[in-house]
Amino acid sequence: MEHRRQIIPSRRLPVARRIAGIVTAGLLVVGPFRITRAQEAPPAQPPSPYIGADACKACHSGIYDAWAKTKHARAITRLSADDRGSGSCIGCHATGTPDQLRQEGGNPSFPGVQCEACHGPARAHAAAEAATPPVKSGLNKQPQTGVCERCHSSKSPHFQGFVYRAMVGLVHATGK
Ligand code: HEC
Ligand code: HEC
Ligand code: HEC
Ligand code: HEC
Repeated sequence: MEHRRQIIPSRRLPVARRIAGIVTAGLLVVGPFRITRAQEAPPAQPPSPYIGADACKACHSGIYDAWAKTKHARAITRLSADDRGSGSCIGCHATGTPDQLRQEGGNPSFPGVQCEACHGPARAHAAAEAATPPVKSGLNKQPQTGVCERCHSSKSPHFQGFVYRAMVGLVHATGK
């Protein structure tokens, strides 16, 4: 963008300003109508950027099966019904954005510490079935200590200490 701006000949700038003026005037005219319409029909909520571990199974079946045997997959079962709804436990025992988890209360769509708790939201990656190579932007290929310590820290009421190198091999078997 910087480059483009520099090569626009200066004599074209007044034209650009006039166009900007017309556009601004147009916005002022349609403005009130737009606000009215927005009040009548609030836009539908965009889907969560998280899609859930079930969506990974088709392509990463070995990893999925290994993960499903870990305590991460069942971490929600540690919480009583009251604890699930309290809002103070669910963030580390279920998966999703903070807003999503708040809205879902004691009944999260993605219970337990699922793939995306470590690898980041992967809806775009998992949905792009036809894409070769698949969309990978935003995916964290090798989650490091900082990712784990969001939960494995003294903020956890049951913190037992955390050593990345000793524990990383247990998250799932590597390989496809
Ligand atoms: C339609 C098939 C498909 C689905 C569904 C899928 N993946 Fe993948 N994924 C792939 C392929 C193929 C690769 C390897 C890409 C490569 O090596 O270039 C990959 C690579 C990855 C990687 C490594 C990223 C990297 O930079 O190499 C991660 C992490 C990952 N997937 C996580 C997930 C998660 C989490 C899900 C479910 C939410 C998921 N995938 C669903 C096909 C899929
Ligand atoms: C607790 C965190 C955590 C969870 C949960 C998790 N992963 Fe991983 N995953 C990792 C780490 C850490 C690595 C890098 C491992 C390494 O460097 O040896 C990794 C590596 C991967 C890779 C790259 C493997 C390769 O050969 O390069 C894929 C693909 C992947 N995970 C998919 C998944 C899927 C699918 C799930 C859910 C079924 C999942 N992961 C659950 C932490 C996690
Ligand atoms: C979203 C929160 C969260 C994240 C992120 C997370 N963990 Fe965990 N982890 C937990 C919880 C909760 C438990 C306890 C599960 C239980 O006991 O039911 C756990 C348990 C474990 C265990 C014991 C599992 C077993 O089957 O014995 C290991 C090992 C572990 N985590 C490693 C990791 C590593 C390594 C990472 C980062 C790559 C990581 N965790 C990231 C929440 C998390
Ligand atoms: C900051 C993240 C975090 C929060 C918040 C959190 N937990 Fe956990 N919880 C963990 C982790 C991580 C583990 C695994 C133990 C470890 O290695 O530290 C765990 C383990 C557990 C266990 C197994 C205990 C054990 O000794 O293995 C229970 C039960 C549990 N949590 C209940 C709760 C309850 C109830 C709340 C809310 C009051 C809660 N957790 C809030 C991260 C959290």
